[in-house]
Amino acid sequence: MRLNGQTIRSIRRPPGARHVTIIDQTRLPFAFGTADLTDANAAARAIRDMLVRGAPLIGTTAAYGLAMALDADPSDSALADARALLAATRPTAINLAWALDRIVATVAGLPPAERAGAAFAEADAIAEEDVAINAAIGRHGLALIERLHRRHGRLVNILTHCNAGALAAVDLGTALAPVYAAQDAGIPVHVFVDETRPRNQGASLTAFELVSAGIPHTVIPDNTGGHLMQHGMVDLCIVGTDRVAANGDVANKIGTYLKALAARDNRVPFYVALPSPTLDPAIADGVRDIPIEQRGAAEVTHMTGRTAYGRIETVRIVPDGSPVANYGFDVTPARLVTGLITERGVIAANRMAIAAAFPDRFVRAA
Ligand code: MRU
Repeated sequence: MRLNGQTIRSIRRPPGARHVTIIDQTRLPFAFGTADLTDANAAARAIRDMLVRGAPLIGTTAAYGLAMALDADPSDSALADARALLAATRPTAINLAWALDRIVATVAGLPPAERAGAAFAEADAIAEEDVAINAAIGRHGLALIERLHRRHGRLVNILTHCNAGALAAVDLGTALAPVYAAQDAGIPVHVFVDETRPRNQGASLTAFELVSAGIPHTVIPDNTGGHLMQHGMVDLCIVGTDRVAANGDVANKIGTYLKALAARDNRVPFYVALPSPTLDPAIADGVRDIPIEQRGAAEVTHMTGRTAYGRIETVRIVPDGSPVANYGFDVTPARLVTGLITERGVIAANRMAIAAAFPDRFVRAA
């Protein structure tokens, strides 16, 4: 991410190190801190407790977690145990299983002494590829923004949900990559940032990223988007995704579906930024079959923030005794998606277009 004129990756392995350093996202936006993950348990905890989050970053962290497990014990049984531990951390983001499978395939057949080194190298490759994929998504998304800028002759208003920026990936992000590309190209943009209850990834993380990068934005309560779209204040929506089914249905942070409905009703283009590791060709119907994570009640019953005295405090906002529900994600049907911004270009959200753009992924799943 862009911070004080520097670029800092959400996860990095210091040269030659057998551990990784992450940005601890639970401390943002009020404190910027890093943490070292030195074994598979620490990687699993960081994913489960959301020190790292966002589909691409979850996958990359898990890959390094498996490498660290092999460093401690390169046996088949240790590999299987660590894979199971890491895979159980968060169910919806398919990048997690994708990255773990890639490490397992890399070390299969290698003698134990070579496994950890090969796994670290593969995790490094996953991290580098993530940045390259996101840069390509940025270029393809920029073309959409440029078109709108030319058509309207003014700054382009973009609405986004949750955090699908640099913090959700190794760098750049997916939905925000076109925004960063627009900034670099000198195209004026303004981002409406859904706060994204219950964990407020928009208000705390996307806003932090955009402040740090100097990109104009406005944080809005989650229920504001429809009103803005009715009044012509949003030119396009771009969101990220945790899993895209073979039919183009898109899982993303809870509330995304409602934005897609409002966008359709108001003829606002609704794009989903899709890095190919987020594709799940094994799921034919996303609305029916993508697993939806349910999270703890405390995320709904409580909120954390900074008091006027500078203390970070958590307060209860729901009466004692009220039951709550906390679905982490929802699935937007493909028919509401204008297009998928992928590293291979902008494509339609349907089986034929996805299979044509990513035949390699479909072959492997068959
Ligand atoms: O629960 P989170 O914060 O991991 O959810 C993140 C999202 O829903 C993102 O939009 C998605 O992972 C895409 S990130 C490039």
